[in-house]
Amino acid sequence: MVCKFNESVLDEVADKLVDRGYVCIDDLFDSELVTGLRQKVFSQADVTFKPACIGRGHEQHRNTDVRRDSIRWLEPGCTTDNGYLSLMDSLKDGLNRRLFMGLFDYESHYALYRPGAFYKKHVDALKGSQNRILTTVFFMNPDWQASHGGFLNLYDEQDNLLENIAPQAGRLVIFLSERFPHEVLPTTVDRASIAGWFRVAGSQHGI
Ligand code: OGA
Ligand code: MN
Repeated sequence: MVCKFNESVLDEVADKLVDRGYVCIDDLFDSELVTGLRQKVFSQADVTFKPACIGRGHEQHRNTDVRRDSIRWLEPGCTTDNGYLSLMDSLKDGLNRRLFMGLFDYESHYALYRPGAFYKKHVDALKGSQNRILTTVFFMNPDWQASHGGFLNLYDEQDNLLENIAPQAGRLVIFLSERFPHEVLPTTVDRASIAGWFRVAGSQHGI
């Protein structure tokens, strides 16, 4: 099983992050890993997944006008989760070596969007908060078609649409957390993803 980013992919990711602040890569991970992650979502969906909240700390609350996914945080103790987490660890090291980003730790959750679910336009980190530095979103829908919806729309700081990204299995999107408002358009089928965030040392958990 591939559990590391290779050097040429890391070069490409680093270059694109410098040039435009985001990058989208396909089919980087072994299909066994992707299948295992997807199975985890569907086997746990009704067991350990919880409706996602917005806000941080004491202000956390559910708001179904804003987001309607259910989530479960990845845990290093679990083999399937670890496959993904170790890849993200190699991404962290590779980017720190190339860009001196000072990425320190990583938190991530599985998300399941049932038909009709969405996540309205938002930014993952408050400007200057140094909380979430770099966002990753990994998709797991194997036979995605345009009629399934659930696109991840990425905007620039002036709110111009930059990318309309199909959530197809094996695709990883990486972007600077403070710079890109984004939204998940309503899906018509079950839509599985893993959203994650790198932080620098000393910053707080949660958005
Ligand atoms: C998020 C997010 C996108 C996705 O959880 O902050 O933007 O496609 N997720 O899961
Ligand atoms: Mn987000």
